[in-house]
Amino acid sequence: MTDTQPVRSSVAKAVIPAAGLGTRFLPATKAMPKEMLPIVDKPAIQYVVEEAASAGLSDVLIITGRNKSNISNHFDSVPELEYALERKGDEGKLAKVRESSNLAEVHLLRQGKPAGLGHAVACARRHVGDESFAVLLGDDLIDDRDPLLDRMIAEHDARGATVIALMEVPQESIHLYGCAAVEPTDDPDVVRVTGLVEKPSAEEAPSNLAVIGRYVLRPEIFDILDDLEPGRGGEIQLTDALNQLAEGKGDGPVYGVVFRGRRYDTGDRADWIKANVLLGVDHDELGEEISDWIIDFAEQLRARRSDG
Ligand code: UTP
Repeated sequence: MTDTQPVRSSVAKAVIPAAGLGTRFLPATKAMPKEMLPIVDKPAIQYVVEEAASAGLSDVLIITGRNKSNISNHFDSVPELEYALERKGDEGKLAKVRESSNLAEVHLLRQGKPAGLGHAVACARRHVGDESFAVLLGDDLIDDRDPLLDRMIAEHDARGATVIALMEVPQESIHLYGCAAVEPTDDPDVVRVTGLVEKPSAEEAPSNLAVIGRYVLRPEIFDILDDLEPGRGGEIQLTDALNQLAEGKGDGPVYGVVFRGRRYDTGDRADWIKANVLLGVDHDELGEEISDWIIDFAEQLRARRSDG
């Protein structure tokens, strides 16, 4: 290699778990995975595949559960729809339909039972092989104006370590997340993770740093997951496997990149509505109409409150 060639990352594959039951969003998720709920005009999981592709991960494995066909159809071509749009000469819509099938090399794998996020990741072993890989949760959106995955991959490559994404949350919300015990490094955006606990109470939480849905993992995680007993909720927890690494069970340390950008948990109803509003007001075609309406509506709401 010459000095002028870009250094290729050791990470080439993305795994997107999308096999959860989505109980927080029932009944919308009775017959449809929560990852297929639209944010403005695209299903949440399409944003996640786009994020993987733009970080250079063109091999994407989606772990699916029941209702898997919704997801596989979305990333497949639809000849009859494309033909109809072609006949109408509607190039714009044709491009939109084709976009999702051309984003990446998408593979699908069924998780037989929803035995937890750790179990979903373990299902990817054969596809991933003996390589580092990224995990992106299919209902967790990182705004593409605030890139995170590139930074995580760069830290993985530079430190030869497992890298997770962390975000500061208010103390009263920490019980909703995995939480990290950390030590500072000389980089204010990077911490060394010394322990992890899944959904602790505010009193038990070692910090206000919550684990969010991006991980760059080394293949050693698979052996740890295979030996893991079910944890919280009777599920195989990825957090428990990462905790073992953080405590020194594997070959390398665990680092956390502290994310300070925009993120939406689209599996949560309130966050899903906020994501639609926030991305809606910035949308090329819809932004102006939605912004005007929101300003108007906010005034009505304020008036309603002061009357009440
Ligand atoms: P969640 O913790 O959001 O769980 O999963 P859930 O079951 O999907 O949702 P609720 O709490 O019942 O509403 C985090 C991520 O892990 C995936 C989910 O699809 C989501 O992307 N997951 C979870 C799996 O792929 N398999 C599982 O067995 C569990």
